[in-house]
Amino acid sequence: MMENKQYNKFYKKIKRPSALFQIVIVALVLGSFVTFLNIYELRKLQMDHLNLHIANPEAVSESFSKKSPVYWIFGKQIDSGYLDHVMRVLERVGYVRGTNNSNWDLLWAHDYPFGSVKGLDSLKSHQMVNKFPGSGWITNKLSLATSNIKQAPKAFKIPSEKDAFFKYAKKYPLKKWVQKSNNHRGIRIRSVDELDFSTGNTFVQEYIDNPYLIDGKRFDIGIYTTLVSVDPLRVYIFDGDWLMRYCAKDYYPFDAADVKKYVVGDDYTPTWKMPSLKKAYTDLMFTHRESFFHFVRSKNDSVIKLTNQIHEAIRNVYISKVSSLIRSMSSYGGTSNFFEMVRFDFVVDKDLNVYLMEVNMSPNLSTAHFSQNRLLYEQVLYSMFSLTGVAKTVANNWIKTSRHAYEMQISERDIHVNIEHCDSPQCTKNCAIIECQLCKWCLNQEISSDLQRAYKEHMNRNRWRRVFPPPFGNQKNALSWKKDTYFDKLSEKNKLLFLWFRGKCVQDNRWCA
Ligand SMILES: *[C@@H]1O[C@H](CO)[C@@H](O)[C@H](O)[C@H]1NC(C)=O
Ligand SMILES: *[C@@H]1O[C@H](CO)[C@@H](O)[C@H](O)[C@H]1NC(C)=O
Ligand SMILES: *[C@@H]1O[C@H](CO)[C@@H](O)[C@H](O)[C@H]1NC(C)=O
Repeated sequence: MMENKQYNKFYKKIKRPSALFQIVIVALVLGSFVTFLNIYELRKLQMDHLNLHIANPEAVSESFSKKSPVYWIFGKQIDSGYLDHVMRVLERVGYVRGTNNSNWDLLWAHDYPFGSVKGLDSLKSHQMVNKFPGSGWITNKLSLATSNIKQAPKAFKIPSEKDAFFKYAKKYPLKKWVQKSNNHRGIRIRSVDELDFSTGNTFVQEYIDNPYLIDGKRFDIGIYTTLVSVDPLRVYIFDGDWLMRYCAKDYYPFDAADVKKYVVGDDYTPTWKMPSLKKAYTDLMFTHRESFFHFVRSKNDSVIKLTNQIHEAIRNVYISKVSSLIRSMSSYGGTSNFFEMVRFDFVVDKDLNVYLMEVNMSPNLSTAHFSQNRLLYEQVLYSMFSLTGVAKTVANNWIKTSRHAYEMQISERDIHVNIEHCDSPQCTKNCAIIECQLCKWCLNQEISSDLQRAYKEHMNRNRWRRVFPPPFGNQKNALSWKKDTYFDKLSEKNKLLFLWFRGKCVQDNRWCA
């Protein structure tokens, strides 16, 4: 209460300056009075903004009658076992299971819920859904393969790009092809003559035929990725471990008719059965990824080259789809209600070039085949619930009712950056310069809320690593960074978020990565 009294006294002073004071100001400089009024208006706006977090009576009674947050699941045969880890981790972070009729906090949708579940366009602020409207822009195989992502193998839509395909195939007669459709399970290498050009909605994609091999086996790499916001865009990847799956059979002697040589199926070879990896994984207790990195380094190959390409590919996919995602979001009010975790699958060629194969919606987190994957799946889930705020760090009944409880997590002082700019005459005079828009007097309410969310995510990111906005790596890079064409292409909101992360990195190098 003490804090509040002082706070109010301070504002009263500003609200009712002495009459003499006003007269002097008016008489001397009319202009500065106008500025003063503007500042007062801004202050008031900011106060109103803070008031949003103060109790409303309804929230109090609701939260006291319901201690534990509630989740429910949308999907088929949800109790058949494939969601066991999801349920277990949710229960460990304090959730209880309910139904669509409960006053729920989290909808875990295994299937795409938009269009099927009612009310998703009018969610309350505490309700979260693990899917984004329009996420098919990312996970649809056709949409992904044919959107000219640098790291995706060349692809042609059939039938519309049939002619272009023939031209290309003629120019590169040695290339091999696979044909895919959205509901494909099981791909197979085909020659041009074997491809089917009569069925619609498929595509033909170049097959990467010079794979990096470990113990003679081709493999793929699964990167768990979480989209937390589309406007502005924020994307994180799971950095605790990667899903490493090696083919069931040796690649050579090659035989296109035997898919077990080049496609990863349910019966893939796990890390602990790979002669060159099992010591690191089993005896030395390293992760799948570190065991793999150890092998790559032993061949004098660069793991940095590999990870950089993976980060860039994921970034490129979201950048290329962000305007479509924003359009799909437009009929779903609060953007802070949604997040979505997917898995990006990559293959690697012998020169350590990375190729994006697909992005899986609702990646399989079942340990029915390999119980050893429990650790990976549960760490992915646990860390994701932390990143997204699904796992509460403050008891439920306080979150919605107390400004102080909110401020101990994130206060206005946590989000201000670029003090030299903000304290310069340039920024105190006007807000036109983009750097000034992050300063106290210019920061608008919407951007302020975005920054608060971004701050909380960063603090709670656990094993996740941000890929967009791209990290600077270190303070030196952040300080020497100049606006470039990449920056110019960003939307205004994304520019501000980018500059804000840069500002945080300059303040504190823990924000640089
Ligand atoms: C809940 O699900 C049931 C059965 O799936 C459905 O009939 C009902 O309309 C749903 N209720 C709400 C509030 O969506
Ligand atoms: C890797 O580089 C080191 C030092 O240059 C060299 O001794 C070693 O033989 C190389 N290993 C391979 C597999 O090329
Ligand atoms: C998920 O993985 C399990 C174990 O590998 C497998 O049995 C199941 O068929 C998979 N489910 C889907 C939908 O792919």
